[in-house]
Amino acid sequence: MGDPSTGAILSQIALNATEAAAAASARLRGFGRKNDADQAAVNAMRQSFATAPFSGRVVIGEGEMDEAPMLYIGEQLGSGGVKVDIAVDPLEGTKLCANDAPNAMTVVALAREGGLLHAPDMYMDKLAIGPGYPSGLIDLDLSPAENVNRLAKAKGVAVADIRACILDRPRHEKLIAELRQAGAGIRLIPDGDVAGVFWTTETERSGIDIYFGSGGAPEGVLAAAAIRCAGGQMQARLLPENDEETARAAAMGHADINRKFTLDDLVPGDVVFAASGVTSGSMFEGVVFADGAAHVESLVWDSFSGRKSRVRSVLSL
Ligand code: FBP
Repeated sequence: MGDPSTGAILSQIALNATEAAAAASARLRGFGRKNDADQAAVNAMRQSFATAPFSGRVVIGEGEMDEAPMLYIGEQLGSGGVKVDIAVDPLEGTKLCANDAPNAMTVVALAREGGLLHAPDMYMDKLAIGPGYPSGLIDLDLSPAENVNRLAKAKGVAVADIRACILDRPRHEKLIAELRQAGAGIRLIPDGDVAGVFWTTETERSGIDIYFGSGGAPEGVLAAAAIRCAGGQMQARLLPENDEETARAAAMGHADINRKFTLDDLVPGDVVFAASGVTSGSMFEGVVFADGAAHVESLVWDSFSGRKSRVRSVLSL
């Protein structure tokens, strides 16, 4: 465990940012304009970080400087103080928000400089479970069936009582078939694999035991921050789709493209993870506008102190 006061400061900074982004993007729920909803979240989050008492640098953001004017990779934010690496997904599940569908949320992870993997924007294969299991229980190099069998045994339940979460994509057809063959239940989600991964940390609330499949690598690092705070297990591997992506990964220091990342590779240092609900879902309520205020529900998890908080804020409009 690290320095609790750093964790407390970073928790407040992260919470302010996810709350502001949630209140801003929630205004655009259900209008079919995912880019506008995302932009509203980006603007609010950036404004929140701009005056925060830290010396922040975006390591996972909206893209390179030439493609993203705000929260781009390398952008410096804050009014000065401890050096912090920032990972953001200002609106995770842009389509969910545009469709007013469940589980859209805003996400931030903050760590001391060097505390987060610099993940290129490409697919990443992910495997995660929550806390309370023997270390090394799951492994990306095992078959999906073997992973759910091991998990069921460790949990003391039948495989039919294990529920996996997977993004509903054609590329996951084989994975889904293998898990069905093994006898596990599957929740297929239309979007939002940060939520899918962190659901494994609170199985009783979410109903999810294990996360499988590929999604964005930046989302993978954010989700790993949640897993680290909760004491769960996660492995990941980059999945470049062409030579250009392989070269881009190498340029970011990932020359061994087949490398299996452990949780310590993804999030080497202590970290704060915060997420706020935009639309209601398995872990929290979406934003409610009432009495001239935005009522926002968030999770703030802090591995510096080991604290996991659920926060309900009333933001005056
Ligand atoms: P956006 O919020 O950027 O739209 O991402 C949603 C998401 O579902 C992520 O949670 C996930 O990592 C990624 O898209 C999966 O990508 P794809 O839709 O290409 O399968």
